[in-house]
Amino acid sequence: MRARYIVFDGIDGSGKGLQLKMLDKELRRRNLEKSVIFTREPGGTPFAEEIRHILLFNHLIKESTPFNNLLLFFAAREDLMHNLVFRALTKWHAVISDRGDSSTFAFQLYGEGWREMEGTFGFLRDKVFSSPLLPARGPDRYVFFDLPPEVAYRRMNDDALRQKNHFDLRDIEYHRRVREGFQDFAKRYPRGRPIFIDAEPDPDTVFRETWKVIAEELKIS
Ligand code: TYD
Repeated sequence: MRARYIVFDGIDGSGKGLQLKMLDKELRRRNLEKSVIFTREPGGTPFAEEIRHILLFNHLIKESTPFNNLLLFFAAREDLMHNLVFRALTKWHAVISDRGDSSTFAFQLYGEGWREMEGTFGFLRDKVFSSPLLPARGPDRYVFFDLPPEVAYRRMNDDALRQKNHFDLRDIEYHRRVREGFQDFAKRYPRGRPIFIDAEPDPDTVFRETWKVIAEELKIS
């Protein structure tokens, strides 16, 4: 097994949550669960989870500025890097994260339409990822679960158990921009060797692709 930092990302309703659960199950079946730490963004550490709560559920966030949103996502990420990711990699654990900086690029810059913050994004990104532990100057690998927003939207509305937050209540156009954001992110940051997995088929079919990428990345035979 290799110590690697891997990010799973995609538009809301892409099914990456289910893929993460299936991956966890497969790793347990192979008795490899102790070598892999699952985390999420925003969140993953006690302090970052506090920031998550502000970002997703505090109504005051709507009165704040988009720039402040961007800073808060990075504040949570900075804590996650220092208190979880770097420590885990040092101990030769792999880290698999439900979302990462690619979400900030796709949601804040493209979804919310603040592309002029791209320079700031790049600066903050360099800062939070600056560690010899990350030779790719960021996650070692991005796995994007890709599908048309119309399909994702239908899935989300069918999922009655899903906890609604204000990020869920957005229109198709918004998610189209987010999808484009992930595509542009992949072009902008090729060092994270981004890969797009077609997330439209049934979960088992998608998981075969997911497993292929993870097995290759973590050197699991
Ligand atoms: P969550 O309930 O975890 O959504 P999902 O199950 O789809 O991952 O909420 C996370 C939300 O936060 C999601 O709508 C994407 C958004 N987000 C950003 O806008 N920027 C970011 O940098 C990150 C990490 C997430």
